[in-house]
Amino acid sequence: MAKNDRANFGSKIGVILASAGSAVGLGNIWRFPYETGNNGGAAFILIYLGCILLLGLPIMISEFLIGRHSRANTARAYQVLAPGTPWRWVGRMGVLAGFLILSYYSVVAGWTLEYVVEAVTNKFSGKSAPEFIESFQKFSGNPFRPIFWLILFLLGTHYIIVKGVEKGIEKYSKIMMPTLFVIIIILVACSVSLPGSEKGIEFLLKPDFSKVDSQVFLSAMGQAFFSLSLGMGCLCTYASYFGKDTNLTKTAFSVGLIDTFIAILAGFIIFPAAFSVGIQPDAGPSLIFITLPNVFQQAFSGAPILAYVFSVMFYVLLAVAALTSTISMHEVATAYLHEEFGFTRGKAARIVTGGCMFLGIFCSLSMGPTKDITLFGMGAFDLFDFVTAKIMLPLGGLLISVFTGWYLDKKIIWSEITNNGTLRVPIYKLIIFILKYIAPVAISVIFINELGFLK
Ligand code: TRP
Repeated sequence: MAKNDRANFGSKIGVILASAGSAVGLGNIWRFPYETGNNGGAAFILIYLGCILLLGLPIMISEFLIGRHSRANTARAYQVLAPGTPWRWVGRMGVLAGFLILSYYSVVAGWTLEYVVEAVTNKFSGKSAPEFIESFQKFSGNPFRPIFWLILFLLGTHYIIVKGVEKGIEKYSKIMMPTLFVIIIILVACSVSLPGSEKGIEFLLKPDFSKVDSQVFLSAMGQAFFSLSLGMGCLCTYASYFGKDTNLTKTAFSVGLIDTFIAILAGFIIFPAAFSVGIQPDAGPSLIFITLPNVFQQAFSGAPILAYVFSVMFYVLLAVAALTSTISMHEVATAYLHEEFGFTRGKAARIVTGGCMFLGIFCSLSMGPTKDITLFGMGAFDLFDFVTAKIMLPLGGLLISVFTGWYLDKKIIWSEITNNGTLRVPIYKLIIFILKYIAPVAISVIFINELGFLK
């Protein structure tokens, strides 16, 4: 049996907070806006919402039930439920995907630390939009500074993974998540009241389907998996610590709702502000780092102290949101190495942290010094992002839905979703139908379409 010396979530709210803590992170506030910007705005958001409902929620329920039923790390889970079959490769691919995501995610998480320091030392004050763009480019292309922050962030993640999740992070996230939420709402209000922000609101609300192509579908699907932490066994691993009375369907809906709401709100901060100060919506990964400082500057131009306080709070909370996500990815790989290879938890964590630092350094350098070294036209950072979010996660999701819909014993599914018949879940049949037919077909069609066979 797998040893169970991992964290355990005591309360119901702990379950939701931990899962939401994993889901809510840079994916919502950094990646969602830039993908929306790259893919034309409102139409992308509608497709994204469709992906959340049709693919994300049912697959999240699958991951939950696989994890809770097997009570093991994600690779072991498939061995428990499908002994001696190749299904264990789904778990293994997930571990690899998590490891790769953590590597480049930590680069961006590191950037948030730089911005915490800039906010604290009041470096934003008095700068104009072009100056913010220039200083971001200078920073992210620097060979040393971003790497310093990347290493620091991974060490922080490592520390928490080794010290235990439940005591520190769970307690803090109960305060920090709601605070982040309040600040986000305030920032939305500031952003939409900037002069010229209407264009940004229109960009978010008026779909233009003429620009929708296969790439937009693939991006929306990838973003849905990424933002909900799906397709690599992250929530599956968390669910292995859920209690018997956790309502899996309700938890999935709560997490999906919180996650989606925060992403949309982030859109309402970024785009009105970007259009207001003339930053291109398709600026890519730099988008929030060049847009947000403007929001603080412009919206509070009459009250610099407010600009200062809000920017410090925002970047601190963003870093914490990123931390609760990096922990969840780190945990997947650490639990796997610990339980499958017999390493101590400390050693397993050191391997993961060290490996991610190594790969993360390549990703960071590809933003500047090694810009010209590319594969398929992408540097390491973009390549990691593409391969994981747009290929590995949806592929993982496809396999998870086939596993649950076609392979797994229906009695297991029923007993997990209804908690042994004690819960009424009116949409039970719908969930099964989606997992069996809709999700596998939809994901396959999006993949095949992207390869160009349907043109
Ligand atoms: N969902 C997180 C975010 O939005 C990132 C994340 C955590 C993740 N765990 C994951 C992404 C597992 C994909 C898979 O920031």
